[in-house]
Amino acid sequence: MTKQPFANATIFMGSVTTVGNRPFRRLVTEYGAEATLGEMAIAKYVAQKKKQELALIRRDPHEKIFGAQIVGGNPEHLSKAARMAEEFGADFIDFNCACPHQSVVSHGGGAILLRRPQNLPMVLDAIRQAVSIPVSIKIRKGFEEGDNVAQQVAELAQNAGFNAIFIHGRTKAAQYRGPCDWETIESVARNIDIPVIGCGDLAHGSDVIEKRKSSACSGFAIARGALIKPWIFEEIATGQPLDPTAEQRLDMLKKLVSYSLETFGSDDFGVRRSRDFLLRQMGFLCRYVPTGALGRELPLQERVGEWSPRNALESLWASADKNDHMQLLEMAGLPKTEQ
Ligand SMILES: Cc1cc2nc3c(=O)[nH]c(=O)nc-3n(C[C@H](O)[C@H](O)[C@H](O)COP(=O)(O)O)c2cc1C
Repeated sequence: MTKQPFANATIFMGSVTTVGNRPFRRLVTEYGAEATLGEMAIAKYVAQKKKQELALIRRDPHEKIFGAQIVGGNPEHLSKAARMAEEFGADFIDFNCACPHQSVVSHGGGAILLRRPQNLPMVLDAIRQAVSIPVSIKIRKGFEEGDNVAQQVAELAQNAGFNAIFIHGRTKAAQYRGPCDWETIESVARNIDIPVIGCGDLAHGSDVIEKRKSSACSGFAIARGALIKPWIFEEIATGQPLDPTAEQRLDMLKKLVSYSLETFGSDDFGVRRSRDFLLRQMGFLCRYVPTGALGRELPLQERVGEWSPRNALESLWASADKNDHMQLLEMAGLPKTEQ
């Protein structure tokens, strides 16, 4: 039976390249993510059956509702990739028109497609016709600073038979600078029939709960907030803010390490792969500033210079040093390898 992702899920783990891998998505699913998106896969390489790219459209058996995300500008590659993702068991296909990276944009994919929305229907039709599962589109609000094509693209997606739209309220030019434009997201949500899933700057369960009270959005996708505190999904589900101790965060890391070794293997190759992913994930996990130490929840866009860790383990967690991250990973059960 085909799942109805946009009717059954309102809280999504957003797509996050190089860190939102299967072990991480398993962890956030345990914390309550109702649906999870895979890392962006380049449609051309999926169509060519490149092993590394195929791994990106594979679901973890623990995921509840899984969306495979594809990127590109060539209708033939996109339709082949979408079909393969459907065959691999994805519950929906998400078409990335938001990626700001030069390597993607210069090949006609990602956010560049927002520059001339009138050209979108051809690719949207190709994807829609390729699969029978639901399809969504992920956009930013435009390409250049000042652009706002969100409503126009939402209408094109709806007309092409797309089932939902994910909107990150920034332009490609803005990258991650400045506040996310939730007014645009809300305006599209009020003026389109397909579900709108809003994303941007949701750092704590309280941010989502607050938004949900007044929002026209059907759902919310969380990216950095979940990379920094994977337990954000439990906060949303229970309505209670959480502030795990350094020891509890180490217990969480033990799980992530064990899921990673389970996924990639415990041989030398698997351990190295795990280490590479986990070190990237540590770059986010170590950004959590405990609410109890700071005295308030830290907004995503704010950086605190100084705060006082309350014990040695909390100090280790607060470090931005790779050697400290390695130490934490080894404490969490990652076998030692030659660097
Ligand atoms: C490390 C990282 C990788 C990302 N990779 C992707 C990606 O592959 N596909 C995508 O649609 N968005 C990607 N994004 C964007 C997020 O999904 C999200 O739209 C954006 O970060 C805003 O949400 P946030 O404020 O919750 O982080 C990425 C973001 C980060 C921080």
